[in-house]
Amino acid sequence: MDSIVVTGNGPLKGKIPIAGAKNACLTLMPATLLSEEPLTLTNTPRLSDIKTMTELLASLGAEVTQLQDGQVLAMSSHDINNHTAHYDIVRKMRASILVLGPMLARDGHAIVSLPGGCAIGARPVDLHLKALEALGAELDLKDGYVHAKAMKGLRGGTIDFPIVSVGATENALMAATLAKGTTVINNAAREPEIVDLATCLRKMGAQIEGDGTSTITIQGVDRLSGATHPVVTDRIELGTYMLAPAICGGEVELLGGRMDLLAAFCEKLDQAGIDVSETQTGLVVRRRDDVIKAVDVVTEPFPGFPTDLQAQMMALLCTADGTSVLEEKIFENRFMHAPELIRMGARIDVHGGTARVTGVKQLKGAPVMATDLRASVSLILAGLAAQGETVVSRVYHLDRGYEHVVRKLEGVGARIERIKDK
Ligand code: EPZ
Repeated sequence: MDSIVVTGNGPLKGKIPIAGAKNACLTLMPATLLSEEPLTLTNTPRLSDIKTMTELLASLGAEVTQLQDGQVLAMSSHDINNHTAHYDIVRKMRASILVLGPMLARDGHAIVSLPGGCAIGARPVDLHLKALEALGAELDLKDGYVHAKAMKGLRGGTIDFPIVSVGATENALMAATLAKGTTVINNAAREPEIVDLATCLRKMGAQIEGDGTSTITIQGVDRLSGATHPVVTDRIELGTYMLAPAICGGEVELLGGRMDLLAAFCEKLDQAGIDVSETQTGLVVRRRDDVIKAVDVVTEPFPGFPTDLQAQMMALLCTADGTSVLEEKIFENRFMHAPELIRMGARIDVHGGTARVTGVKQLKGAPVMATDLRASVSLILAGLAAQGETVVSRVYHLDRGYEHVVRKLEGVGARIERIKDK
């Protein structure tokens, strides 16, 4: 397994291009199942999760062709000849559950493996299943698989989510586009990735209103056509790299960055003493002064502070002046980066969903281990400003969500290299 070696060094300077959003692409790709006509996505990120989704769609009979070095995905689902998403693919990536709604809407039947948990939590899919039942689907759980049927087709209905779920909102939204009648989704997720999916579905002929708010209304249509759609900028990659100059000092421009994608996050950076300004081409980030101020963070559904940036923010707060309290309200086990940061000299007390971080002068480089996608990049950020060398092992986690992380950080002056496993 490869590792990444980071050596703490001075301020960073330059530009980092931000890719298309992994979490938008992973729901836009299954949307191809809703139409027999070609769906082409541009600005797609080159990530292992995208490869896994490609593998899954191909196993169902869809054609997915990578063009322009993986930045364009030309997809066609004209001949779907298999309606079973197998465990060996689904267990690799939980977003595989997002083929369930589209397959059900298109052909009235689907068998999808339950995804199982992951490092950050149990990650149940009960809300996905309840939503599809509200649209008339009959579901059976057998041998770890969901057997779904809607032989007379799906019908519009009201879906009341007890808690906000991004994936369940996406599954329900895609299924409802071809359901007979009107569907109302209450307490819907409001993430930019939901708006991106709705925008693409409208290009395909879907009738959707209210995306980006808590109530989405969909008028079902008989069929959807093909489309071409650019994937929205990845706000989590954006926020991750905004923290590099925040932690190291200097000034970096994040190309393609938009403030509206991360308002709550930018607000917290401002409180911590980090300046963020919009330019014609993106966002420029620089530290206001030498000291980072401690801030408290609570993760919430959009437009609140994103849970996917909690680990990275913790890396910044490890050397803040004072004590910061981070509350992780979305997932039950998302502080696995804390013990690794402690190995680097951080002072962090974790109790349940709350982490208290008492700032230290400087972190010290150390061998650390990546445990999940966002934890792995928070260790790299910490290593950028630590004294000495940090070796992050198990970086395959990184490859799921960050393309060319070494090249992007080297490009702004970081001392970082990837060591290939022998
Ligand atoms: C999406 O996961 C993202 N993944 C996650 O990003 C992100 O952290 C999460 O949304 C929250 O923003 C993709 O988009 C591929 P949820 P998802 O359903 O849809 C519970 C990353 O690092 N829940 O909004 O799985 C769940 O356990 C990943 O890129 C149920 O109880 O998240 C969690 O506590 C990590 N039942 C909460 O809801 C369900 O049926 C929010 O989960 C579904 C979810």
